[in-house]
Amino acid sequence: MIEGSAPAKIILFGEHAVVHGQPAVAIPFSALRARVGVAGESAAAELRSGSGELLAALHSPQVGDPRLLQMLRVIERGLDAPAPARVFQLTSDIPPASGLGSGAAVATALTRAMAQCAGLSLDAEQLNRIVLETEKLFHGTPSGIDNTVVVYERPLCFTRGRQARPVQVSRALELLVADSGERCATHVPVSAVRELLRRRPQQTGACIEAIGRTSRRALAILAGDSPAEIGPLMYKNHELLRALEVSSPRLDRLVRAAREAGAAGAKLSGAGRGGTVIALIDESTRAVVSRALTQAGATRIWRTMIPATKRARPDP
Ligand code: PMV
Repeated sequence: MIEGSAPAKIILFGEHAVVHGQPAVAIPFSALRARVGVAGESAAAELRSGSGELLAALHSPQVGDPRLLQMLRVIERGLDAPAPARVFQLTSDIPPASGLGSGAAVATALTRAMAQCAGLSLDAEQLNRIVLETEKLFHGTPSGIDNTVVVYERPLCFTRGRQARPVQVSRALELLVADSGERCATHVPVSAVRELLRRRPQQTGACIEAIGRTSRRALAILAGDSPAEIGPLMYKNHELLRALEVSSPRLDRLVRAAREAGAAGAKLSGAGRGGTVIALIDESTRAVVSRALTQAGATRIWRTMIPATKRARPDP
């Protein structure tokens, strides 16, 4: 059976600053996935929802969502082969426009399914290049972090234009991921930051550099003996994102609620102006933080881990 699948992603540190050349740290969120199966033949490739609704079709360009149609075309071009004349059926657990990388996951799952169907084998680098092209359809200047984490499905430190690096984590950490219920397309806050940079270059540039420093510091802490100490850096990163004007009253309320309930750290994650807040917790704070997030308006809460990485043990 043909199925392409890809995970959501969570940005731990560095969103927005990563668009402007600073490092960012992200992990896959494998429990939430986009999946694309093949439901039958068609006159030309088409994409349908799980319930059968036509989302985009190469044979009927006038129906469906024009951006999804462009996505089909960009993938076809990237595969350098005619798109298989099949019905591709998309189901996804990932809320769109919520900072969890839904667009990159859908494009990755669809590219994987189309490649399998066409009998093509793609390596991760080729796939990543194609998905980056689809990301450009949704917001002109993606840094490349979403597609890279989603395609490789591992924790990465990403700097635009450089090879992504694996992240060392000495001990697993636990996160709550809270959906604010607010939706905002990525290009809106990304454009707002660019506009802020134009209007207040010095202040905004300093803020972006400070976010870059939190990412670098976080990498060192995660690899060290007390990784839970990244908590305060998360609060700091959230304040810097507020200064970039990409938070929202509801996201601030969720971060404040997490803090007051004892979370070691919390911040918005992804493009902001809506979407998701992440909170660093442990066994002793899990229930109370979760309750506080719900009371502060979270519409859904998931639990996930920042997994520990294996280290070479010294010889006994
Ligand atoms: O909200 P998302 O999942 O689209 O994440 C966007 C991350 C940004 O740094 C805001 C944009 C980018 O291209 O890196």
